[in-house]
Amino acid sequence: MARIIDIAKHRQEALEAASAVLSEGHPVAIPTETVYGLAADATNATAITRIYETKGRPRFNPLICHMSNLAMAEKYAEFDPVSRALAEAFWPGPLTLVLPLKAESSIHALATAGLDTIGIRVPKGFASELIGLFGKPLAAPSANTSGRISATSAAHVDADLGDKIELILDAGASAVGVESTIVKVDGDELRLLRPGGLPASEIERIAGRRLRRSKKAAAAIEAPGMLASHYAPGANVRLEARSVKQDEALIAFGPADIEGAGGAVTVLNLSPGGNLAEAAANLFDYMKKADASGAATIAFAPIPDEGLGEAINDRLRRAAAPRE
Ligand code: TXA
Ligand code: MG
Repeated sequence: MARIIDIAKHRQEALEAASAVLSEGHPVAIPTETVYGLAADATNATAITRIYETKGRPRFNPLICHMSNLAMAEKYAEFDPVSRALAEAFWPGPLTLVLPLKAESSIHALATAGLDTIGIRVPKGFASELIGLFGKPLAAPSANTSGRISATSAAHVDADLGDKIELILDAGASAVGVESTIVKVDGDELRLLRPGGLPASEIERIAGRRLRRSKKAAAAIEAPGMLASHYAPGANVRLEARSVKQDEALIAFGPADIEGAGGAVTVLNLSPGGNLAEAAANLFDYMKKADASGAATIAFAPIPDEGLGEAINDRLRRAAAPRE
């Protein structure tokens, strides 16, 4: 059973307990503004192996390395001018930059899955404070069993991984609710490897150029975790639902009425007012609740594909993808 420490009440104790567990080469579940992460020392092979084992994650899928600030990130990666401008504008925040790994870097090859690039993010709040105290980068995928729905609360982490890890730090519900946006500068091109908690339009505004959306096949190689079935609930998933049947759970968005909603197993609305940030924050929790309702299928109402809607629709398409 994992010990759970409430950061709001016991911040210092949480920092010290987490540092101790990390120093012993074990993973700790930590809150970030996007989703909860399963964090371990990015320079320690045993620690990283434990992340892969705990999640049941394929080892060809690299981990994001979390840093306390840009200065720490510059020790491990080469920054081009556009990536630096993005880091200065959006860190700490829900942006991951894929950058060339510095040759003399102490990041273990297991964290980068042997690539010559590294995915780096500076998270907001408690997580970057912990990294500063620990003094080394933390490799941290989302704190969920591989292929399942990401955790946006300590209770989600506990239900999924609580019997496999020692410590969960609890900072309440994640503010953003979907994972970071991943981008990579490739020559003259700026590529979107994963839509996420930072809207693409904000990145384009700072970079002064358009993001190139990766084709599916290219994305499979570039961000290996991004294809096929992911974020999968137990129930089937049906998208773009304009009506709902009796054995289905409905996840609605906005004020529009959905035909048959009165007879559905359960109805949850991501944002009755149609706010995409609110919808992103509720997404994974509502998917878990709809799944727990026992409905055979979860029907999702259409969600606009703009701003944070791009990340939400990306996660929904993966949740609906054929299971292996
Ligand atoms: O918001 C987030 O990004 C959360 C929190 C915990 O920070 N983390 C997260 O990690 O979503 P994870 O492991 O679930 O997703 C990491 C994604 C994977 O799709 C992986 O393939 C990609 O990042 N990635 C990591 N390093 C990469 C690299 N060097 N090149 C390309 N893709 C990379
Ligand atoms: Mg994940």
